[in-house]
Amino acid sequence: MSKQIKCGVIGHPITHSKSPLIHNYWINTYGLNGIYEAIDVAPENLETGVKRLIDEGYKGFNVTVPHKETIMALCDKIDHNAQNIGAVNTVVIENGRLRGMNTDGYGFLHNIWDTDPNFDFEDKCAVVLGAGGATRAIVSALIGERIGKIILLNRTRERAENLAEDMGKVGNFITVEDWKNRHAVLTTADLLVNTTALGMQGQPVLEIDLGKLPVHALVNDIVYAPLDTDLLKAARVRGNKTVTGIGMLLHQARPAFKEWFGLLPGVTDELNELVLK
Ligand SMILES: NC(=O)c1ccc[n+]([C@@H]2O[C@H](COP(=O)([O-])OP(=O)(O)OC[C@H]3O[C@@H](n4cnc5c(N)ncnc54)[C@H](OP(=O)(O)O)[C@@H]3O)[C@@H](O)[C@H]2O)c1
Repeated sequence: MSKQIKCGVIGHPITHSKSPLIHNYWINTYGLNGIYEAIDVAPENLETGVKRLIDEGYKGFNVTVPHKETIMALCDKIDHNAQNIGAVNTVVIENGRLRGMNTDGYGFLHNIWDTDPNFDFEDKCAVVLGAGGATRAIVSALIGERIGKIILLNRTRERAENLAEDMGKVGNFITVEDWKNRHAVLTTADLLVNTTALGMQGQPVLEIDLGKLPVHALVNDIVYAPLDTDLLKAARVRGNKTVTGIGMLLHQARPAFKEWFGLLPGVTDELNELVLK
């Protein structure tokens, strides 16, 4: 029998993570000899925690809060995309060396294409709400798809400006606007994405008037608890196509699984239901 492939997710806390459910579903579905574990690693134990995984022959691991940035210092190699985003969510261990990647942007794009396979980002205008970690991955992915224009709005404007500057496109096609202008800027949008925590269970609602949003615009909320957010409900009522956030979570796991198991797994209705239970 082939040697068991060991991988997992490190974070602190880690019990909430859906990643073990997703990866173990694929391990079982494809009949692979593998195991994916949730591994609690406190910030002060990051280096020793990672060393243990190397010593125990792990093939790699996902990285979640609070290690997505600090893990970068321990990586021997970081791909261009993760470097650009400034965060690593997937590590591949090769001969004791760590290679860091970020698959959140892949998850974002493939989630949109799951709903609208012909959605072409090129030369489109995206209004992006937020400027947190997830926003960085999404903006980077949009740039990779040759988006025409990004209008970025965040409660803390400075954070949006820093993000735009880090992406090296200030004054070019990323425009930063004041948060209070989020209703008015919708007139030119082909895509509206909420990447803030607003609308998530336990968080305040996202207050936005969609009146000026063209009906052809696609609306994506990356919040997935609840799945059907108030933003998506309001968009659907006025005839806009909507995309929920759960697919981003599922799709971002696929390239990591492929790195470790050599197979790009599929996102099925059964997996969707399992994760939403
Ligand atoms: N679907 C997926 O796969 C996926 C992946 C990653 C994240 N997410 C979801 O995306 C959301 C953001 O995650 P993250 O990791 O990017 O978090 P983060 O780095 O902490 O960023 C949080 C963002 O939400 C904004 N925000 C929070 N409270 C706000 C409020 N009361 N009013 C206005 N803006 C507020 C923040 O604005 P300030 O800068 O002003 O604080 C910031 O832009 C979370 O709901 C998370 O669950 C989903």
